[in-house]
This record gives sequence, C-alpha cells and structure tokens, in this order.
Amino acid sequence: MGSVPTDGLTDHLLSPAIDWQTLTYPVLKLGVLASGNGSNFEAIMAAIERSELKAKVNVVICNNPGAKVFERAEKWSIPTVLLNHREFQSREALDQAIVDTLTTYDVDWVIMAGWMRRVTQHLIDAFSGRLLNIHPSLLPSFPGLHAARQALEARVKLAGCTVHHVELAVDSGPMIMQAAVPVLSGDTEESLQARIQIQEHRIYPAAIALAAHQHATEKKRATWQSMR
Ligand code: GRF
Repeated sequence: MGSVPTDGLTDHLLSPAIDWQTLTYPVLKLGVLASGNGSNFEAIMAAIERSELKAKVNVVICNNPGAKVFERAEKWSIPTVLLNHREFQSREALDQAIVDTLTTYDVDWVIMAGWMRRVTQHLIDAFSGRLLNIHPSLLPSFPGLHAARQALEARVKLAGCTVHHVELAVDSGPMIMQAAVPVLSGDTEESLQARIQIQEHRIYPAAIALAAHQHATEKKRATWQSMR
C-alpha cells in the first residue's frame, strides 16, 4: 500500500493518478471547518498519523453545537472552536470570526470537510489558493445538497467525489482530484453515498498533498523569476 491508486482501478477511478506520498511541500498547519459528522476530518488525521500527509491539524471549527466532529476531535486531542452561525448577523461576520480563529491558531491551509455554510469572498481572500473543499459528486455535475440523490435521479452510471479549490459559487473552483465509483442497480441514496464516502477518505489527504505541492512549486518558480 502506498499511493492512492495501487489497489487497482476496478472499484474506482482516480484522477490524477499520482504517487502522492512522495510529493514535497512544507509541513502544513491545517484548520478544518466541519458542520457535522467529521469522518473526512478523521481520514485526514489517520493519514497524518501514518505519516502519509505531512501536516498537523491546529484547530477544528464547527458551527453546530453537539456535532459528532467534536467527539472525534477530542479523541485526537485537537482543539475545537464552536462558531454557531445562528449567533452572527451576517455571513461576513461569521467568516470574519473564522479568519480570526484560524489566525489565532496559526493555520495556513483551510480544509472544508462537510462545512455546510456558503463562504464569502473575505474567507477566500484571506486564504487565497489555500482553501479546499470536498463534494460528493463528479463536479461540475450535481453541486449543492443531496448530490448522491441527484446522481440517482439523473440515472448516471458513474458517481464520485471531487476535491477542489473554493470559489464563491457553491461547489465551484479548480479541481484538484476526483475519484469515480459505479452506480449499481438497486442503489439507494444511502448506499451510493457510502460508496462515495470510502473514496472521499482516500482522496482528501492525497488532494491536500497535491495542492500543497503545486502551491510550493508555484512559489519557488515565482521566487526564481523575481531573481532573474
Ligand atoms: C461529505 O460527503 C462531503 O463530501 C460533503 O459533506 C460530507 C461530510 O461528511 N461536503 P463528513 O462530515 O466528513 O463525514
């Protein structure tokens, strides 16, 4: 076991297929935004523990009191901050509090993992190129809520998940990595969602590493060019 695609392409397709654990980038200081369950957060923690992803999670921010992600973060001894969106006057005010919290915890990459709030330009600008999201469809198909249900209703044969950079429109922005899974006859929204989520847990750590590698490479290139 090592890189994402080594166990074959029979149950999933992955793009790009790369040996992501060999990528180079500085150790990342992550802030995770989650609204509920937090299984992607745990997949990221597990990849860090296995030394596959070079990163540390400095803080988990959640907007829903009592969400399962709090329990999961406690298990991994990761600090949590509740920013309940119901207590903020506007999306901008919530995002300002998020940026302040991320700054306090010295975060350099922001990982949206089941974050169910629309983001504002303020958050996007504060972490330009370092703000990622995962969505349970092969974007640009089926953005928004209930992606697995949308895929079943459209009768597509392939579903999947996408990690992408975040832009203002919901579930939009340059794609980093995708994995595809078959839609099987008899699938329910739950069974399809579960099959997709197995792949989410594989690709999110890999996509973070890939985005960090691309970012570091760009930075190096910009430095060289400024020295010429
Ligand atoms: C995932 O399906 C993700 O794609 C979507 O929200 C879900 C979060 O799951 N954005 P979890 O909270 O990480 O278990």
